[in-house]
This record gives sequence, structure tokens and C-alpha cells, in this order.
Amino acid sequence: MKHITDFTIVGRQQLGSHYFTLTLRHPGQLPPIEAGQFVEVEVRGSREVMLRRPISIHDVDYSANTLSLLVQIVGNGTRQLATLNGGDTLNLIYPLGHGFSVLGNNPLLVGGGAGIAPLLYLAKCYNDRGVRPTILLGGRTKELIPVREAFEPYGKVLYATEDGSLGEKGLVTQHPLFTAPYDHICTCGPTPMMKAVGRYAVEKGIPCEVSLENMMACGIGACLCCVTNTVDGHKCVCKEGPVFDVTKLAGFLENK
Ligand SMILES: Cc1cc2nc3c(=O)[nH]c(=O)nc-3n(C[C@H](O)[C@H](O)[C@H](O)COP(=O)(O)OP(=O)(O)OC[C@H]3O[C@@H](n4cnc5c(N)ncnc54)[C@H](O)[C@@H]3O)c2cc1C
Ligand code: FES
Repeated sequence: MKHITDFTIVGRQQLGSHYFTLTLRHPGQLPPIEAGQFVEVEVRGSREVMLRRPISIHDVDYSANTLSLLVQIVGNGTRQLATLNGGDTLNLIYPLGHGFSVLGNNPLLVGGGAGIAPLLYLAKCYNDRGVRPTILLGGRTKELIPVREAFEPYGKVLYATEDGSLGEKGLVTQHPLFTAPYDHICTCGPTPMMKAVGRYAVEKGIPCEVSLENMMACGIGACLCCVTNTVDGHKCVCKEGPVFDVTKLAGFLENK
């Protein structure tokens, strides 16, 4: 069930010049949220930004009734969100879409850029099942891998950076530990990264879920602007996804 609620900002952290986090308190009781679900954020006070913006749920704290968002500043909407401060309100439609299945006993979570956002809550959901995932985070430089320390209590965290400033030098898929015998892979980040991870998983016969970040408008399956081709026909990423079994995405692994 979807909700529309004004949340109060109770925490804001700037992470370098590209990223920030917002911690948002629900006025009542948070509903159950799946890892990988997202919110549609209303951007107030901007003439250029008419539509809500989709942002993954980065973390959930039911005891404090808060959820948090990790946002990369890329354009007008996210720039406007970056001006918000503690005490301001933010209107969200949530929780949207279908999340990760949280399956496997030796899972690998692979994130790149802002795609690491949903993986923190996912790692916590695995911990709730008594499973510590391996978490591989990648970026061009270490500055582009925000909130690294937040992951460390929840799994074995490894890094890959293209300039070698943190962890292995190169792409996440070139990391030596990428080849360990995982029984489930979850990935979110740049499409070429998810394709490479998906190809590896299919080659090794490992179930793999990818979280797509198609452009979205309504976020609730009404405008059809986010459709993707699957083996079962066209599906709205906002409603049937954003998390899909990679083998169900028609043509996804074929094109580089
Ligand atoms: C399901 C979902 C979950 C997301 N989760 C997060 C998250 O947790 N944190 C986060 O920082 N971002 C996330 N995004 C991406 C985020 O929605 C966009 O970056 C944001 O809408 C850009 O808004 P803007 O007004 O700042 O930029 P705009 O002015 O709209 O666009 C600026 C630039 O960003 C590009 N862009 C816009 N939207 C996307 C997109 N969806 N994918 C790739 N490029 C895009 C545009 O092509 C343009 O080049 C998510 C997207 C989806 C679909
Ligand atoms: S964003 Fe409108 S249908 Fe998906």
C-alpha cells in the first residue's frame, strides 16, 4: 500500500560536494518497507522541477520511525533538495516498487555511485536473517563512494576505484574477490556495471537481481514512461521493479 506523508528532516549530512544524506522522521508509525523500494520526493520551491524525483530508501529505523535517503546532486531537483535543513518537511509517496528478495546464504551486493544507496538497508535485512553479505562498492575515486563506513558493521566490505584511491584499482567486476562462490548477487548502479555483473552471474549460474534506474515521472505505473522490455512483455520499472531477476530482462545482457 502506498502512502503520501510529510516527513520532518531530523538529520542532514553533506558528503563531499556530490552527495548528502537526509534522515526523515515519520509523524506516526512507518509501514513495512522492503530493501530496494523507493520514494517519490516532492521538490518544493523550484519552478523548473514539476515532477517528483525517485530516490531509493537507503536506511530504515523502525524504532525511531525514520528513513534515510542518500542523494547525489546531479540537476535542479537534487540541487534543490540539497538546500533542505533540519526541521524542514519533505513530502514523500512511498514505499514504491518491488524490492530485493533477500535470498541466499552467501550473497554478494555490488554497488556503484548512487546505486550503493539501497544496499545499506539490504545488508541490514540480510543481517536480520543471520547472513553477513560480501559488499563490493565501486566508484571512479574514493570521494565518489559515500557512506562507506556505514556498511562495515553489516558485512565484509571491499572497494574498487578506477584511480586506485581506495581498494583494488579498476572496475568492481575486476576485483579478485568477485570470483568467490556466491549463491546470490544483488546489484545497483551504472547500467554497464550491472550488465557486467549480470553476465558474470548468468555465466556462473548464480541468481542475480538488478535494480534499474530508468527515468521516471509518476512512479506509480500510470504514465508508462519507465517501461522496460522483459521476457514477459513490457513492464513498468516503477511498479514491477525497480528490482528484476536479470534473466527476465529481455536483451539487457546482450547490449553493452
Ligand atoms: C528507482 C530509482 C531510484 C533512485 N535512487 C536514487 C538514490 O537513492 N540516490 C540518488 O542520488 N539518485 C537516485 N536515483 C536517480 C535520481 O532519481 C535522479 O538522479 C534524479 O531524479 C535527478 O533529478 P534532478 O532534477 O536533480 O536532475 P535532472 O535535471 O532531472 O537531470 C540531471 C541529469 O541527471 C540525469 N538523470 C536524471 N534522472 C536519472 C536517472 N533516473 N538515471 C540516470 N540519470 C538520470 C539526466 O539525464 C540529466 O543528465 C534513482 C532513480 C530511480 C529511477
Ligand atoms: S514512472 Fe510512470 S509508469 Fe513508471
